Amino acid sequence: MHKMQKDLQQPSREILEAAGFILSGGIGAVPTETVYGLASDALNPSAARKIFEAKGRPFIDPLIVHVIDIEMAEKVAVFDGDSRRLAEKFWPGPFTMVLPRREIIDDIVTAGLDTVAVRMPSHPVMRSLIAASGRPLVAPSANPFGYVSPTTAAHVREQLGGKIDFILDGGPCECGVESTILLTTSSPKKLLRPGPISPDQIEEALGEAIDRSPKKNEAHPQAPGMLNSHYSPKSRLKLFKNESEIPADFKGEVIFVKRPANPLKNHYWLSESGDLREAAHNLFALLRSLDKVSVNGMYCQIPKKEGIGLALFDRLSRAETKMQS
Ligand code: TXA
Ligand code: MG
Repeated sequence: MHKMQKDLQQPSREILEAAGFILSGGIGAVPTETVYGLASDALNPSAARKIFEAKGRPFIDPLIVHVIDIEMAEKVAVFDGDSRRLAEKFWPGPFTMVLPRREIIDDIVTAGLDTVAVRMPSHPVMRSLIAASGRPLVAPSANPFGYVSPTTAAHVREQLGGKIDFILDGGPCECGVESTILLTTSSPKKLLRPGPISPDQIEEALGEAIDRSPKKNEAHPQAPGMLNSHYSPKSRLKLFKNESEIPADFKGEVIFVKRPANPLKNHYWLSESGDLREAAHNLFALLRSLDKVSVNGMYCQIPKKEGIGLALFDRLSRAETKMQS
């Protein structure tokens, strides 16, 4: 149970206070089913600006607009038959669509693009905050730009505590990785970020194939929405397929997807049984805690590239940096 889970009709005092901050142009952290977001009123450009400043995020990286229902979604973006079908199938939930934008959304939110990213979250705390403020909310992950996303309120407090107006604590986030992002304005539609909703699920709902691995950074390396250098922990991280790739004298931490049969002292695992959803739920929290103590760097096993494993692999690849041997 989420600590703050409440009937939408009766928001708690914390939610009402947070909504007060939102309506007066403030910013604050809020749990979602994916990761914690740093929220502000999507219709207030100066509040959105504060989010970029608090995160140290470049203004060319556009934000996701979070909505409570399809009516609110239609006020910020233009839907067609396909996008309505996808919304019906995957909303509320960890799925974001990049759609043609409407005038009401300011350039600062979309980095000047003619599209806007929209998501209808399922987390009760995020939903009550949208309902209580009566506004769509922009919410990037509540981490300093370039660091892994927070999956607990404590993660947010540690890094952004002094810089934001409120932190709503809803316990650890269920998914643990950010939403799937689909570009709906291209043909075929493109997977911009793998996440909890898999390409197979999207194709099944659409009845047509999508581009699963669009080439990033080729034509316009600095194009808005196409930044690649995300999610890095400070410590060095290297991926491995077989344990034999790890040097025999390696003294750092080794992360496995599944608990090894005979774990050593420097062995960690993302899931007892090797379940990929559980692994995704635990990934960022484990990287954060090891990042605090790691001296010799970390190795992490490459997960199976299926379902949410695609999202795990994507985040791990972005976090990987060269080991100095
Ligand atoms: O799960 C999530 O999506 C979380 C929670 C808080 O909702 N939010 C999140 O936001 O991950 P953020 O800002 O960390 O990541 C949003 C990504 C960025 O990489 C951005 O470039 C891309 O979405 N994006 C936003 N608008 C876009 C657009 N119009 N076209 C292409 N990419 C876009
Ligand atoms: Mg982010």
